[in-house]
Amino acid sequence: MCGIVGYIGDKKAAPILLAGLKKLEYRGYDSAGIAVQEKKAVKIVKKEGKLDKLKSRTEEEVFYGRTGIGHTRWATHGRPSDINSHPHTDSFSEIVIVHNGIIENFRELKEELSAAGHQFKSETDTEVVAHLISTYYDDDLRTAVNKTVERLEGSFALAVMSRQEKDKIIAVRKDSPLIIGLGENENFLASDIPAYLEHTDNFYILEDGEIADIRKDKVNIYKFNGDLIVNKNKTKISWDAEMAEKQGYQHFMLKEIHEQPESLKRLLEDNLNGGQIDLTASGLAEDWLDNYDKIHIVACGTAYHSGALAKYLLEDKLRIPVEVEVASEYRYRNPIVDAGTLMIVVSQSGETADTLAALRLAKKKGASVLALTNSRDSSIARESDMVIYLKAGPEIAVASTKAYTNMVAAFYLLLVDGMRQRDNISDQITAEYTSDLIKLPEMIRKLSEQSKEQIQAIANNYEDKENIFFIGRNTDYTLALEGALKLKEISYIHAEAYPAGELKHGTLALIEEGVPVVALGSRADIFSKLFSNLKEVKARGAETLLITEENQKFETESVDHLIELPILNKDFAGLLAIIPLQLLAYYTALNCGEDIDQPRNLAKSVTVE
Ligand code: G6P
Repeated sequence: MCGIVGYIGDKKAAPILLAGLKKLEYRGYDSAGIAVQEKKAVKIVKKEGKLDKLKSRTEEEVFYGRTGIGHTRWATHGRPSDINSHPHTDSFSEIVIVHNGIIENFRELKEELSAAGHQFKSETDTEVVAHLISTYYDDDLRTAVNKTVERLEGSFALAVMSRQEKDKIIAVRKDSPLIIGLGENENFLASDIPAYLEHTDNFYILEDGEIADIRKDKVNIYKFNGDLIVNKNKTKISWDAEMAEKQGYQHFMLKEIHEQPESLKRLLEDNLNGGQIDLTASGLAEDWLDNYDKIHIVACGTAYHSGALAKYLLEDKLRIPVEVEVASEYRYRNPIVDAGTLMIVVSQSGETADTLAALRLAKKKGASVLALTNSRDSSIARESDMVIYLKAGPEIAVASTKAYTNMVAAFYLLLVDGMRQRDNISDQITAEYTSDLIKLPEMIRKLSEQSKEQIQAIANNYEDKENIFFIGRNTDYTLALEGALKLKEISYIHAEAYPAGELKHGTLALIEEGVPVVALGSRADIFSKLFSNLKEVKARGAETLLITEENQKFETESVDHLIELPILNKDFAGLLAIIPLQLLAYYTALNCGEDIDQPRNLAKSVTVE
């Protein structure tokens, strides 16, 4: 959600800024712009729409400057338009700024500045910040920015330049990520690491309440109180630039679906020690289950769906109460959370604003927080007491696939590690679960290959549909939720998930001739119940797709399309069943001709609430 880039060095800044923005496209945006320090002025080009539009606009202008900032905007205050795009300036174009986040008190500030004679061109909260900086500016940009941030409420990452001080970019972070890439006689600024991975693997991760003075040959980082931070830790990133490229796949999403066996294997191997699950590297005690009387799982979107699945399994096997809730709800009620609570927050990006806020709330009330995250130096990783890193590698497509798989797998690891601690579960059963878990990557690989053509054929049939329903029971219901979300977010076809047993309490009224219903039947233990529901929709004309394990017995006349899964422990079958759902969403969206990696209105990293 919004992307910031910056460059200062000996090379021409504009192409480097545009390339950095391209790498951040996955975050989601509806307009983009850059500002470059030229000899006499700061030259700004900004445009509503995709980066290609901005690129052709920049080709009409000549940029020589070696210092600049850029931005992709995801509209919050004011619709997407050229004027509302960033960068923004003060009245005299002295101060130039790009911003991620939301300034909550911008109305008050705008009134104050308007009364003092400031005139605003855009509807954004960001422009107000540029004006405010100019009121404090007295030939020292860092001091002016510092005074400004003290007046701001809300979340922000800012990159600021001044026409007077061409040799620097000032960057500041509060609740919105910002990293500084360190090069030889050049430095880079970005919202996320993939922007400049091809230039450096050495980064400073700015923390909340830090302000950086970035020159081409040095970077000084200060606290908001003015103290210089000496010996700030540098982070070495082990991903290479290749990992964040498409590598011949038509879309990142397809590449990421196919990367799942490898990334899942990485996570499992990382948490196995001599064939036994060992989660102590995360900070969890060996007998962690004894320390808590309940578990709260809090997350957003796809990450929430991984938690919904985990609730069924953890409660069933570990007999500990588990609540699962979307973070935006959790944070604004008064949850019963205390020192006996293990709070598990799940987040691919580690920066989701609502999840972070829920984490802080639970911590304040004494809970221990375990994060499942893909992002090592993220806010969520740093603020949690314990962390299991998902090891999925960079996930670029907005629709999450391999991160989801590793989230579910991380819960499987917790499940089996918890089973080891329960006296009523034999060592033999725990060992069987562990060995089933290890089989998963290879089974997923085979299934993705084998089911591909069949799913493409089904997807050809879905592209003209208006509504598609997904049904399941138990963990299969949570897969239905995820399957429906995947499909609607990238194909824009309306999709709904229902607990199969709930259909006849309302939704059945919507089933008519030809409406597709995807029935998830990966759990052998309740297959017959699910199948009765499938027959109910078939009797009303639905076009049914059944996803179930091979050799399952059922009346074939009720099933129009069948996808068979290899047989595995029913508790782990979910990670097999999700593969056809991901491919189905992908190929349906492909047929619909949609922008698969960057669906409209959505963002990969949602850093505002
Ligand atoms: C956005 C993304 C989803 C993601 C959700 C939570 O909505 O589009 O793909 O599941 O945020 O993100 P997180 O980074 O916390 O997992």
